[in-house]
Amino acid sequence: MALTDLIDIELAVPNPSELEEFWNRRGLLTTGTGRLGTPERESQLRLAESDYRHVSQMRIATETQEDLVRIAASLQKMGAAVELGDGWLESIDPVIGHSIRIEVTKTNPLPPIAPRELNGPGRLNRPNRRSEAAVREWAPKPRRFGHVVFGSTDTKASVDYYVNGLGFRISDRLPDVEATFLRCSTDHHNMLILPAPVPCMNHYALELEDFDAIGLRGVEVVRERPDASVYGMGRHVVGSNVFWYLLDPAGGMFEFFADMDQITDDDLWDNEIRREDWDPFTIATYESGISKMDFFLPTDIDVIAAGRERAGL
Ligand SMILES: [Fe+2]
Repeated sequence: MALTDLIDIELAVPNPSELEEFWNRRGLLTTGTGRLGTPERESQLRLAESDYRHVSQMRIATETQEDLVRIAASLQKMGAAVELGDGWLESIDPVIGHSIRIEVTKTNPLPPIAPRELNGPGRLNRPNRRSEAAVREWAPKPRRFGHVVFGSTDTKASVDYYVNGLGFRISDRLPDVEATFLRCSTDHHNMLILPAPVPCMNHYALELEDFDAIGLRGVEVVRERPDASVYGMGRHVVGSNVFWYLLDPAGGMFEFFADMDQITDDDLWDNEIRREDWDPFTIATYESGISKMDFFLPTDIDVIAAGRERAGL
């Protein structure tokens, strides 16, 4: 695969400093102007100011300049806007309108954290000691930006652009609801395209260590704002990830996730495991309650539509 990773997104919101402080409280450091991350992943989210909430740029990693040249040719062939430089390529998503920037960069695998000591039936791993999660002696940080989900007014054109233009691969599809899960790394999905009446971001997702890390960080958000929980915790079927969907102070939905399926053998997955016939109600194998409507479409979609109109999109 030419593409190797999703680096980050730039999120444009009316009050970026409020969002920056929110993420600082969740364990992301300010690693540059408007840039949030950790020492091991310095850029996970970038923030910019805009009069309406939207993703303004996605940055994607690839291996070589030859990859960029090939991607540029594919984009030109489909009539998409593209600019090619030394070590980078920029294009504009033809349906949603954000900037795509692909950079030649080395892969940056995360160092694994030692497995936590969990007791279980017949497994005595933590004798005579309380769990670090129970006594809050553990402040897990978002370890990595993982994926972004967009609502598109033309899902066919969007999937065509990402697959045949940029080189994403299809991991699974729910054809009855026009949902396509796409990857540009070993993650089951780095992107999901859904239908929407107005092009918009559905959610962005940060990977945490495990379910306890999601619980500890998620409950902080709910303590600050009791109506912030949208859906979760639970475990998805497609992608397998454990999830909790919450709202940030800009009104954007984000997901804390863990334990997503990893695809290291593209041929095996694409030929034997990928399904393009999932039932539209295949959302979670278990969850703690029914999702709010924000899960499917931002409840302030009219505000986003008005912002897009002002921006001439
Ligand atoms: Fe997600």
